[in-house]
Amino acid sequence: MYNEIDLDIIDINSEPPTEEPFRQYYFMAKCRKWVKDFEQKNERLPKACVVNMGCQMNARDSEKLAGILENIGYERTDCEEADFVIYNTCTVRENANNKVYGRLGYLHAYKKKHPQMKIALCGCMMQEAHVVERLKSSYRFVDLIFGTHNLFKFPELLASMLERSEMTIEIWQDTDKIVEELPIDRKYPFKSGVNIMFGCNNFCSYCIVPYVRGRERSRRPQEILREIERMADDGVVEVMLLGQNVNSYGKTFDEPFPFARLLQEIEQIDKIQRIRFMTSHPKDLSLDLIEVMAASNKICHHLHLPLQSGSTRILEQMNRRYTKEQYLALAGRLREAMPDLALTTDIIVGFPGETEADFADTLDVVRQVEYDSAFTFLYSKRTGTPAALMENQVPEDIVKRRFDQLLQEVQHIAAAKAERLTGQVRPILVEEVNAQDASLVTGRLENNSIVHIPGDASMIGTLVDVTLEECRGFYYYGRAIAAS
Ligand code: SAH
Ligand code: SF4
Ligand code: F3S
Repeated sequence: MYNEIDLDIIDINSEPPTEEPFRQYYFMAKCRKWVKDFEQKNERLPKACVVNMGCQMNARDSEKLAGILENIGYERTDCEEADFVIYNTCTVRENANNKVYGRLGYLHAYKKKHPQMKIALCGCMMQEAHVVERLKSSYRFVDLIFGTHNLFKFPELLASMLERSEMTIEIWQDTDKIVEELPIDRKYPFKSGVNIMFGCNNFCSYCIVPYVRGRERSRRPQEILREIERMADDGVVEVMLLGQNVNSYGKTFDEPFPFARLLQEIEQIDKIQRIRFMTSHPKDLSLDLIEVMAASNKICHHLHLPLQSGSTRILEQMNRRYTKEQYLALAGRLREAMPDLALTTDIIVGFPGETEADFADTLDVVRQVEYDSAFTFLYSKRTGTPAALMENQVPEDIVKRRFDQLLQEVQHIAAAKAERLTGQVRPILVEEVNAQDASLVTGRLENNSIVHIPGDASMIGTLVDVTLEECRGFYYYGRAIAAS
C-alpha cells in the first residue's frame, strides 16, 4: 500500500530514480535518515506543523503534506512552536493573503530564539511573482518556498532544504502532470475529500484561481475509483469529490468521461454510503447529473451552486456565462427533480460597476431560490485579473451596506429553512462525541447541518436515522429512531 511504503529498503547512497513517484520515495527515505539523526542527537522526534489556509482542495493538499511528513518520521503537532512549520496558503481574496505576512512575523520571533527551526510556504499565494519577490527581499528567514504545481515534489524539496542553509525556491508556471500514489494523512477516519480534477479554465474575471492553479486536468476514473476503494476498505463511508468545476470533469480526455457517469461508478462501491461533491458551475450542470442525483440514495441531495451575482449585466462582466433567468430556471429544475434538495451558494458583493439595481437582482434571486445557506464575500481586487483593471470600483461604504443587507437576508431565509426540517426524520453521519456533553454525539445531515443526539463513541462513522426534535438556529437536537 502506498501509505506503507517501505522506505528502509531504499538505497539512499545510489543515484535518485528519475521516475515518479519512486523519485519522491527515495527522497522520503533520505529525509527519514535525517529525522533519525535528529532523534539521536536530541533524544526526541522533530515536530512538524502543517497549517492549511485555503479551500477544501488546499485542505486535501495539506493532508498530502502531512502524510509525507508522517511517513518520514516527524511527530505531528497543531502548535506552530515546532521544528518545522509549513503554511499552505490561499490568495483568493486579499485578506487571506495579508494573514500570511502577519503570521510570518510571529514565526520569525520564535525562530530567532530557536534558530534550528525551519519554515516553509506553499500553495496558491506562492504562484504570484510579486509575493515571492516580497518574501525574497523582506522575509529571508523562510527556508523553503514552492507552489501548487510541484507539490508532489515536497519530499525532494524538503531534503534539499534540510541540507542547505539558504532559501530554497522552486515555482513552476504550470503543469500537465498528475502524480499518484503519494502518502496521505486523512483528518477523519470515516470521511475524506478526493480530488477528481485540478485547475480551472473558466477565467471568471474577478478570480485568481486559474492563474495560480493552472489549466484544468482531470484524474483518470480508474485512479479515482482505486483511491476510493482503498479508503472504503480503510473505514471511509463518505467521500467529497473535489474540483473547481466538477461538472466539466473528464471533458479533456480523448474519450470524454462525464461527471454523472463517474458518480454512478462510485456509487457501486459497496462500503461508500454518502457521496458529496463541490463545486458545480451552473453553466455546465447537465440534465444527466440531475437525473443521477435524483435517482441515487448515496449522493447527498445537496448542491453548492455559486450564484456570484443575480444581475445578468454583472454576470456578463464576471464572465460567468449564464443569465439570471437561466440560473433561476436551473434552480427550479433541480427543485422539481429533488424537492428535498438543499441549495447553497457563494455571492460576491461590490463587483466593479455594481449598481443598486444590480444588487436588487441579487436579493431577488436570493429570495426566490431560498438558499439553505450562502457564503457572502466582499469583492476583493486581485492583481492580474481582468476585473482589477475595471473602472468604477464601488465605494467601500456602499459595498459594506449592501453586504450587511445581503447577509441579513441570507440568514433570515436560512433560519426559516432550517426550522422547516423540525419534526422530520433524516439520516445523519455521526462524526464525534460532543465536546461539551459526553452523553451526546454530533453528526451531519445531508445538507451538512449539525445535529446532536444522545449516543456514544461506538456510533462514530455510522449513518443513523434521527428525528429532528428541536432547531436552534443552525443546528438541531434530535434522537435516533429505533431500527425496525
Ligand atoms: N470554483 C468555484 C469557486 C472557487 S473560489 C466556483 O466557481 O464557484 C470560492 C469563492 O470565492 C467563489 O465562489 C467566489 O464567490 C469567491 N471569490 C473568488 N474570487 C473573489 C474575489 N476576487 N473577491 C471576492 N470573492 C471572490
Ligand atoms: Fe474562479 Fe470561476 Fe474557476 Fe470558480 S470557476 S475557480 S470562480 S475562475
Ligand atoms: Fe484559495 Fe487556492 Fe483554494 S486561492 S480558494 S486555496 S484554490
